[in-house]
Amino acid sequence: MSRTIIVSNRLPTKALRTDDGLAFQPSEGGLATGLGSIYRADGNVWVGWPGLFVEDEAEATFVTEQLAADSMAPVFLTEDEIRDYYEGFSNGTLWPTFHYFAQLAVYEEDMWKAYVAVNEKFCRAVLEQAGPDDTIWVHDYQLLLLPEMLRAARPQATIGFFLHIPFPSYELIRVLPWRTELLQGMLGADLIGFHTFGYMRHFLSAVSQLLGLPNQHGQIETPTRSVLVDAFPMGIDHQRYADAAASEAADAHVREYREALKEVRVILSIDRLDYTKGIAQRLRAFELLLLRYPEWRGQVSLLMVVVPSRDQVAQYADLKVEIDELVGRINAQYRTIAWNPVHYFYRSFPLEELAAFYRLAEVALVTPMRDGMNLVAKEYVASKADQRGVLILSERAGAARELSDALIINPTDTGQLAEAMHEALVMPEEDQIARMTNMQALVRQYDVFAWTKLFMDRLAHAKSQQQTLATT
Ligand code: G6P
Repeated sequence: MSRTIIVSNRLPTKALRTDDGLAFQPSEGGLATGLGSIYRADGNVWVGWPGLFVEDEAEATFVTEQLAADSMAPVFLTEDEIRDYYEGFSNGTLWPTFHYFAQLAVYEEDMWKAYVAVNEKFCRAVLEQAGPDDTIWVHDYQLLLLPEMLRAARPQATIGFFLHIPFPSYELIRVLPWRTELLQGMLGADLIGFHTFGYMRHFLSAVSQLLGLPNQHGQIETPTRSVLVDAFPMGIDHQRYADAAASEAADAHVREYREALKEVRVILSIDRLDYTKGIAQRLRAFELLLLRYPEWRGQVSLLMVVVPSRDQVAQYADLKVEIDELVGRINAQYRTIAWNPVHYFYRSFPLEELAAFYRLAEVALVTPMRDGMNLVAKEYVASKADQRGVLILSERAGAARELSDALIINPTDTGQLAEAMHEALVMPEEDQIARMTNMQALVRQYDVFAWTKLFMDRLAHAKSQQQTLATT
């Protein structure tokens, strides 16, 4: 039977060192939470980093066994590899470049070398798992070279690649000293998927201008093979979020929080700590709302969850300081004994508590500067059984292409964002219901299972066409 080997930098489960020994917990981030529901079927295996530096062989064996029981195969990375490949090239070079923050990007040859070496390490780990008939599905920007490495080792393999972040304009890509190698690495796949047609167009343009390879309707002919490129907007496990929101545990949390908040209305913001997410800009917009519309003081609070992320990367640590200061300033300026303008949490929450936040929130702010898709927007929609609630969504999140019934804003326009919050708070219920109904239908239909099926069917089709061509 053919299986799917999923490969990503981070596994959906992370190992942690605690006072009571090693513990295992769900990982954060769109990729892990999004795909977490689907990989266990049919003997599939997920290959990736478990988020822990193992101290010795015994520990490595223990982690490997624990994860194997849940269909995962760990790739252990050293502290140097994490510094140069993960914090360095992946999150210090590619992440800012692909999110249009090129001024933050570093260009270091040593980091590039580590990136190549770790992609090779992943290649060996995948080859250990994958049989000749298995399909290999590689994910995201940390592993751009892996499809080509796998292709060299297994010329006939079926290989898919999906990018979870934006693919930027050619003008950004051309700045990278290693642009050719990166594009060639991706072209090792049979099918390359992006969240939106815009990202796909940018990729095709970069391949044409940098490698001289044109395409026809998304099909690129390399000297040896054809590669198909297409858009597949990722969905969430709608049922899982709807069920969590309807659970007794979520009910209990909603009651508890409602009692604590009294009559105060809630605007919600949930993100990983990241400069791409527009968190500081969002705080300034909330401050402007309180300034422009004093009637909301004492009536509305911003409930802001920031999930710790990449805190060893300098820009992330700086952003944390900026957010702490902004929250401090706003609360110091406006708070009363009975009311807190911003409830700020710097930690992650279990699903039922997040579901309770989603249910309580009359408004959700998903206002990134750039975001490949943004699954929080879809999770909010899936959690709103009563269809009351307003989503304010950045035009620069991939999700804005689908969720056009949200209030779509430009996140750099603080005034527009403050006005959108006011508009959301006074929006008549029938408008809220109409918008939410449309968005729910979409999120329900195009869920993560539909997304996976679409990608896999397309990959099988692309492969079978290649084989037909090769035999005719
Ligand atoms: C984004 C990326 C993922 C990544 C996640 C969390 O969603 O597309 O590849 O796993 O962020 O980031 P981290 O660096 O903690 O894995």
